[in-house]
Amino acid sequence: MGKTTTTVAVAEMLAGVFHRKVLVIDLDPQTNATLMLIGEERWEELNENRHTLAQLFLDAIAPEHPKFHLQKTLQKQVSNVKDLTSLDLLPSSLDLINVQDRLATIPAGRFYAASPINILRRGIRAIIDPYDYILIDCPPNLSIVTLNGLRISHGYIIPTIPDILSTYGIPQITKTIHEFSETIAEPIVPLGIVICKYNAGMTLHDRVIKDLRRYSKDARVFETQIPHKQQIAETVEFNHPYKFSTLRQKWGYAGQFEQYLNLAKEIRMAASQIIKDKPSHSS
Ligand SMILES: Nc1ncnc2c1ncn2[C@@H]1O[C@H](COP(=O)(O)OP(=O)(O)OP(=O)(O)O)[C@@H](O)[C@H]1O
Ligand SMILES: [Mg+2]
Repeated sequence: MGKTTTTVAVAEMLAGVFHRKVLVIDLDPQTNATLMLIGEERWEELNENRHTLAQLFLDAIAPEHPKFHLQKTLQKQVSNVKDLTSLDLLPSSLDLINVQDRLATIPAGRFYAASPINILRRGIRAIIDPYDYILIDCPPNLSIVTLNGLRISHGYIIPTIPDILSTYGIPQITKTIHEFSETIAEPIVPLGIVICKYNAGMTLHDRVIKDLRRYSKDARVFETQIPHKQQIAETVEFNHPYKFSTLRQKWGYAGQFEQYLNLAKEIRMAASQIIKDKPSHSS
């Protein structure tokens, strides 16, 4: 829990504070990241015109009349924070729900080159070069759509609430991704676990975090902990493109802005092992 909020907040910090060129890819049929970044009205228009990632997957299922249009699907300068100019989005659609099961049955094609886990990779290759960071918001499962996201990832982040049930599945997730990474012979590095919705008054949270920090051997836990705050939950409403003047105003004056900023710094540092962007001490 906290995947979408973490994705959007970190993407905005990387673009707005560090002036990196950032792309968010929304692979979740719930379309939450899409709604947070462009709002319902713009999303509905895109969805009616089939300018979402669902169309890319639908084309793979029925390739006779492809309709996916990469440039028209790519939304530039998204977010409701003014002056945030280097954040783009590939939006999702509820229609992704319907493609999940059908993807497994598509033929792999000549030379097995059209494998269903390569659909995203093939579909967006033409636009990814200029980006410093690509953040992919995944649904809470390891379906073929999620595997498409992992297929193009150098690393992954696990946001979690620090309670017993939320953290229970983490070893299984890291194990499965490791096996997938071995199978495709591409490294997909666990960058870290993000503690979200931390409640300072709950001893259970402190106990779970302590255990995670001590025993999690496959993925380290980031130092920064995102607190449970009403303002974070409220900020999902898009309203209009100039709703907020600054990122601080959007994420909150009571420390949350700094926490997401620190998290973004930690993620940059972890990612510098595997990608070209090298954070300097001044940025
Ligand atoms: N730090 C926080 N404090 C308060 N509310 C939060 C915080 N982080 C997330 N939320 C709220 O909790 C809910 C779930 O968060 P989010 O959508 O980021 O999780 P998710 O992992 O993407 O969920 P899903 O599995 O449904 O995709 C949302 O309503 C969000 O606004
Ligand atoms: Mg989500």
